[in-house]
Amino acid sequence: MVAPPGRWSVALAGALPHNGVVETNSTMLPWPWRAYKSPRGLSPPPREAGVVGGNVVGGVGATPVHIPGEGQGCPSGGPFLQGRHARHAWDQRISERHEVTDIERVGVVGCGQMGSGIAEVCARAGLDVMVAETTGEALELGRTRLANSLGKAAERGKITENERDTTLDRLAFTTDLGDFADRDLVIEAVIENEQVKTEIFQVLDQVVTRPDAVLASNTSSIPLVKLAVATSRPDQVIGIHFFNPAPVQKLVEIIPALTTGDETIKRAEAAVTGILGKHTIRAQDRSGFVVNALLIPYLLSAVRMFESGIASREDIDNGMELGCAHPMGPLKLTDLIGLDTVASVADSMYAEFKEPLYAAPPLLQRMVDAGRLGRKAGAGFYAYS
Ligand SMILES: NC(=O)c1ccc[n+]([C@@H]2O[C@H](COP(=O)([O-])OP(=O)(O)OC[C@H]3O[C@@H](n4cnc5c(N)ncnc54)[C@H](O)[C@@H]3O)[C@@H](O)[C@H]2O)c1
Repeated sequence: MVAPPGRWSVALAGALPHNGVVETNSTMLPWPWRAYKSPRGLSPPPREAGVVGGNVVGGVGATPVHIPGEGQGCPSGGPFLQGRHARHAWDQRISERHEVTDIERVGVVGCGQMGSGIAEVCARAGLDVMVAETTGEALELGRTRLANSLGKAAERGKITENERDTTLDRLAFTTDLGDFADRDLVIEAVIENEQVKTEIFQVLDQVVTRPDAVLASNTSSIPLVKLAVATSRPDQVIGIHFFNPAPVQKLVEIIPALTTGDETIKRAEAAVTGILGKHTIRAQDRSGFVVNALLIPYLLSAVRMFESGIASREDIDNGMELGCAHPMGPLKLTDLIGLDTVASVADSMYAEFKEPLYAAPPLLQRMVDAGRLGRKAGAGFYAYS
């Protein structure tokens, strides 16, 4: 994909702040798409619609449609489709969507950084979304985060005010997982803790009534098979791993456990591409999957470098931003991801592979102990107001 410096490297870093230095609109659904989409279904773009263009991979509705293998010459990374071609692409999209119309009601467990982003992506795609948190206070925080994110998207002209409002209307909030009974797909996005996640999967197994519902985890590193065998339906459990911030980042890793059935993989992949308009890659159920297996050792190396006094945090970050065109240096990125999440992912990867590179440096753990979890806590390697 050809894009100006500071854009292509977004995919490299795997995470960006909403208000960060670099923005990509590559996965944001541009304004016209909602005009052609009813709240609970799709309607085609009018035949007189001229250019249906852009660079959304697997976009829906009148969004730019990227056909894999085509459009390599387009600077935005996708073809600009016109007239008959747009219609053809639309029809293809409809038939893909048709395969996955049985996923209309989504449940998201956890409304932190990732849960709120995933809920936003799903609601913006027209799905009915129920979000669960442990307490009313956490729920209120999550709801505010989500409303702010949609508000910013409207302010920046990514969505209209009407789209913001209809998206909010598709979101419901609860502190009772029992409310997930009618969900077709549940995406768990709570803290990176195996015991907490396992308990949630046990509860979901009890409460979700649809016999073939897909039960997914957004875990960054916990083996999916451990969550799968905690349920009575291990063939329906799968990893659907979004990136931060979920409304912006194009990639989703699909991680089948050894027990996951083919039908579950197919439905999960079709929902993520056909409905949510994301690009998927598949990874085996090995701690860290693809992206974190590469990213985490790099982040840990930066923490070690800072800890040993080789360079200041600013110089480490500037080194990678200005020397390697990364949109964000590794310490800023660690702050964005959350130091607790990075430490937990490192622990899971170390437990799996026993590679010294995956061992969390003492400073990281001490900062977690001190509550300096990064952006979400207001302080990490940097301070945030
Ligand atoms: N932060 C990232 O960049 C990133 C990227 C991809 C995947 N992930 C994964 O996503 C998951 C969530 O990460 P995050 O960054 O959103 O963390 P976070 O700390 O921002 O949010 C976690 C949320 O889970 C809630 N929670 C905890 N226990 C719960 C329970 N039993 N029921 C309901 N909610 C509960 C907490 O109240 C909190 O709001 C983790 O598994 C993480 O590894 C994180």
